[in-house]
Amino acid sequence: MSDSGVLNDIGYLACCRDEGDQSDVQSLTGAAISWKDGTFDFVGPAGDLPEATATRAQYSAGGNAVFPGLVDCHTHLGFGGWRADEFRMRIEGRSYLEIAAEGGGIRKTMAQTRGASEEELRDHCEKYLALYVRQGVTAVECKSGYGLSLEEELKLLRVYRDIGQKTPIEVVSTLLAAHVVPDPDKCNENCYIQMICDDLLPEVARQGLAEFNDVFVEEGAFSKENARKILRAGSDLGLRPKLHVDQLQDGGGAELAAEVNAVSADHLEYTSADGIRAMESAGVTAVCLPFASLHLNQPPMKTRAFMSAGVRVAVATDFNPGSAPCNDLPLAMMLACTMSRMTPAEALKGATLYAARAIGRDQLYGSIENGKRANFIEVTVEDVDHWMYHFQANSCLATWIEGRQIFRASPQAR
Ligand code: NIG
Ligand code: FE
Repeated sequence: MSDSGVLNDIGYLACCRDEGDQSDVQSLTGAAISWKDGTFDFVGPAGDLPEATATRAQYSAGGNAVFPGLVDCHTHLGFGGWRADEFRMRIEGRSYLEIAAEGGGIRKTMAQTRGASEEELRDHCEKYLALYVRQGVTAVECKSGYGLSLEEELKLLRVYRDIGQKTPIEVVSTLLAAHVVPDPDKCNENCYIQMICDDLLPEVARQGLAEFNDVFVEEGAFSKENARKILRAGSDLGLRPKLHVDQLQDGGGAELAAEVNAVSADHLEYTSADGIRAMESAGVTAVCLPFASLHLNQPPMKTRAFMSAGVRVAVATDFNPGSAPCNDLPLAMMLACTMSRMTPAEALKGATLYAARAIGRDQLYGSIENGKRANFIEVTVEDVDHWMYHFQANSCLATWIEGRQIFRASPQAR
């Protein structure tokens, strides 16, 4: 299939350029788009299509809606085993931290991930990438964080590198060695941090295995002071900071994200007004993770306070076996609307352009505009409001990456 073409008969198009506020998705009806060598070169009313595009492959959207390719900018895709028992225990009234203190939580998944071979982890990740394509997801950020030793963290990052080479979806890797201290009796927090800073980060940088360096700042995980140390060590090696912050309490994490110039700060259920202001001044993208709030029974992130302060809010799944065992990004968008009071248009810009911004890719994709990669999806809905309102699984009809159709739903499935 050619990577130059024209898509006509678009019933509703949302461009999602970085203009206006978060609700401004620049929608058009009766639109067409064209692309050359995988890059958009026309977006506008069908009647204005340049004549020169007539010789390219012609496609019809059949009156359906077209959106930028979705981006899942926060996942823990690579893990071994599940924790359904913890799901039940939380419903019975136990807290996430209590379960973790009793041998469940991240350390339980660590043990199961260490027990999985690279091949098993690749198969697991590839299964979910195949599901992502069917949802219209065109890029996925993947965190390590269940290996928690030099060798095991490198193993997870190699899995991401290898799956990324085999799929048209862009896989963006983040080191999350600072998820929890794996075995505090053998090597305490300081000892583990020393290993991260002296051995693991330099090795990850040397092998080019990750672009971002993430830290979980929370009681039972890492302090703000130690996070600063780990993020600075990463920045010195060219790994940009990302942060899990203010998820279970306000730990001043949003302020830290601003101070270290993090590309994003994620969770933010308990962030203060000062923290929001700090993120706005530093241009840090906020990431709303509705599945985690839902599963841990936390108050949802107050996205309206962030957006009215001028912070861009991305939406992601946080897919992991503990706090967010679901990798359905459109469903996360719908929950960002219902739980966090984002409008459907705001959630859409959050799962496209601003999600791309949360992984440093907003100059390359995330919106439908000339010069950007032709990543887009056809969805069987009349507009973005209807998509989120009458929510149905499998409304994505086709997924295109750099002008190539990588998924089309079979007619029987419609
Ligand atoms: O993003 N908050 C820390 N990490 C994950 C949960 C990981 C787990 O429970 O396995 C999260 O929610
Ligand atoms: Fe997470």
